[in-house]
Amino acid sequence: MKKKNKYSVLVVDDDARLLSSLSSILEENGYRVLTGANGHEAQEVLKDSSLDAVILDLILPDTDGITLLKKIHHEKPFLPVIMLTGHGTIAKAVEATKLGAFDFFEKPTEFKRILITLGNALKSSTLEKERTFLIEDALERYRMIGVSPAMKHVFEMIEKVAPADSRVLIYGENGTGKELVARALHLRSERAGNPMITVNCSAIPHDLLETELFGHEKGSFSGAIQQQKGKFMLASRSTLFLDEIGEMDLRLQPKVLRAIENGEIQRVGGNDVINVDVRFIAATNRDLKEAVQKKQFREDLFFRLSVINIHIPPLRERREDIPLLAEHFMIGLCRQRKRQPVQLSPAAVAKLLEYPWPGNVRELRNLMEKIAVLSDSEIVSGEEMDMYLNENRRSQSPMEDNSCEETLADIRRKKEKDAIEAKLAAAGWNHEKAAADLGIARSTLFSKIKEYGVKRKKS
Ligand SMILES: Nc1ncnc2c1ncn2[C@@H]1O[C@H](COP(=O)(O)OP(=O)(O)OP(=O)(O)O)[C@@H](O)[C@H]1O
Ligand SMILES: [Mg+2]
Repeated sequence: MKKKNKYSVLVVDDDARLLSSLSSILEENGYRVLTGANGHEAQEVLKDSSLDAVILDLILPDTDGITLLKKIHHEKPFLPVIMLTGHGTIAKAVEATKLGAFDFFEKPTEFKRILITLGNALKSSTLEKERTFLIEDALERYRMIGVSPAMKHVFEMIEKVAPADSRVLIYGENGTGKELVARALHLRSERAGNPMITVNCSAIPHDLLETELFGHEKGSFSGAIQQQKGKFMLASRSTLFLDEIGEMDLRLQPKVLRAIENGEIQRVGGNDVINVDVRFIAATNRDLKEAVQKKQFREDLFFRLSVINIHIPPLRERREDIPLLAEHFMIGLCRQRKRQPVQLSPAAVAKLLEYPWPGNVRELRNLMEKIAVLSDSEIVSGEEMDMYLNENRRSQSPMEDNSCEETLADIRRKKEKDAIEAKLAAAGWNHEKAAADLGIARSTLFSKIKEYGVKRKKS
């Protein structure tokens, strides 16, 4: 009985006998077979059919297989091509594989071998298609928006630096898009097929960061019940994103330096030196040069990391990006919530343009999310936007406001101390009476006296 599979194969050969016998074998194995006796016929089939693989003779009456191979690769880059060669054409067949042919067979050849190779070619092209689909999907998900000259420069840098495998240090205030730039660099590199590994150096307590990065051997500390791979190993053949690198403990920095410089690591509690092939991208919101001067960051590590620097300017310095970003977030966030995109009136956009955005792009995204969830309007007015932005202003409590709050608290404390002193003096330091006059419990009065250091004045 014939096996069925879902694949279609084009076989191109001017040898009618070979064409017919190879077609029969393929059909017996469940393939849908299309044929061409020359380059012209092959091109007609290639135009119209959805194909999964091609078996192509190197020498054809009207063209040569290499020319056709190049054309197929150009038009259908995922289509695997297996070459058939006659006597004395091995050199050409080798050239064909260099050009991307999956494999070649010298005629006469066992059809069984062709079948095995065809199976492998189909598997690997399916994997390649999936890989490309995943990368394209991720590129869309992590798409970066920006029209300002500053962001255009960042995009140009990404374009140039991504495939180069060089180490990159990304600078930027909180929420400017450092992680997004790291992802863009990874996704546009040869390493994109493997997931980028991220370590946030400030979120992990210092003593745990070492095992997190380098892994550990079984029994290297209490609780190490089994050997554990570290992030350096997980990132092998991929990218390691060291986020908030400026917060890394000085004691750990020499080990990281060695890993970066020589691609060598040792697990905690282990003696074996393990080689890793990792691309490093680091990010910081600190001035690392200043940290080096203050001896808070090793100079040698700083120089190793900052081969290429990418600065992402704060949003307030590239205001022309604000309307586009706002729209981009609003469309995505409303789609997630299955509602029509909320429009922003020109007055609302003007308010966005005036606001200082201390939390940068993240703050803008969060604001759009708030509006997508809370707003009942189809179009947000200037006043409504003002209301949301005022909430942001209040919750942000920038430095000046903090200092103002501290002053208020000081005033409150001073007033309270004065009142306690006055009431105690008036009551002749009768605690019970003073507490009653102040409307507080006696125990509270005692603790306040202690807290403020109130003392009886000698008259
Ligand atoms: N140019 C941009 N286009 C689209 N989205 C952006 C852009 N810049 C930042 N974002 C979005 O803003 C948010 C913050 O970005 P990201 O996490 O990359 O910033 P960060 O600099 O790493 O922040 P932090 O310093 O707080 O870690 C994310 O949701 C990200 O997708
Ligand atoms: Mg980040």
